[in-house]
Amino acid sequence: MATKPSYRLDLKRIPQHVAIVMDGNGRWAKKRGLPRLSGHNAGMEALKEIVKRSDTLGVKYLTVYAFSTENWKRPQEEVGGIFKLLVIYMKRELAELHANNVKVRILGDYSKLPADSVAALETAIEKTGDNTGLNFNIALNYGSRDEIMRAVRLLAAECCQGRKTPDQLTEEMMSRALYTGGIPDPEVIIRTSGELRLSNFLLWQSAYSELVFTDVLWPDFTPEEYERCIAEFQGRKRRYGGV
Ligand code: IPE
Ligand code: IPE
Ligand code: MG
Repeated sequence: MATKPSYRLDLKRIPQHVAIVMDGNGRWAKKRGLPRLSGHNAGMEALKEIVKRSDTLGVKYLTVYAFSTENWKRPQEEVGGIFKLLVIYMKRELAELHANNVKVRILGDYSKLPADSVAALETAIEKTGDNTGLNFNIALNYGSRDEIMRAVRLLAAECCQGRKTPDQLTEEMMSRALYTGGIPDPEVIIRTSGELRLSNFLLWQSAYSELVFTDVLWPDFTPEEYERCIAEFQGRKRRYGGV
């Protein structure tokens, strides 16, 4: 007999954009006496299920933080291992993602990744480019400050070339110049593993996002826990500075 969930998810109020900081892979592995890379591998499996559930629930945009501009500080072996897993994930999942009409987009300067990763990502972006289902955004070599600086440089160049004056710059133009240009701001950002921070993720875009934190480590994050987090978001009162 199926047990009734302890949360109430309103299927008519599913957020259109959910962003997730997938954290806790290393601790998940450590708890089991396994190398950190096994944690990252288990994390890929968890991600697969969350992409599927996002699609079923009718989420329009799913953005996941996979590798930050700060994660290069980790041992070379772990960094290289993460990118190897990424290639495996992309190659293995691409056909199914495409069959499910998922559109893959990368946020961040992924040209700095190893050549085989860049190639696998480009194949995925090209193949799914015309898809109209779930927008699956993967933040890779992504950092919000890096993203904001890049946007500022683009707008500054417009001014230097005389196409705009500083007074004419708007928040709209700034939003469009970010990696997330054209994507609505996330209504909710979920972070797993009990850490209560954004770690340089979507700083501009999260101005009015609801933040949901769960102690569950990313590899243990199930579609049920995902729904519980969305239900928690649905229970929030959003005021946007009003009354
Ligand atoms: C998140 O898990 C994945 C990446 C940052 C690439 P971590 O590797 O940060 O796991 P913890 O935080 O050490 O447990
Ligand atoms: C944030 O997790 C980055 C990703 C999940 C990709 P980190 O584990 O790198 O963040 P900190 O170091 O705990 O802030
Ligand atoms: Mg971490």
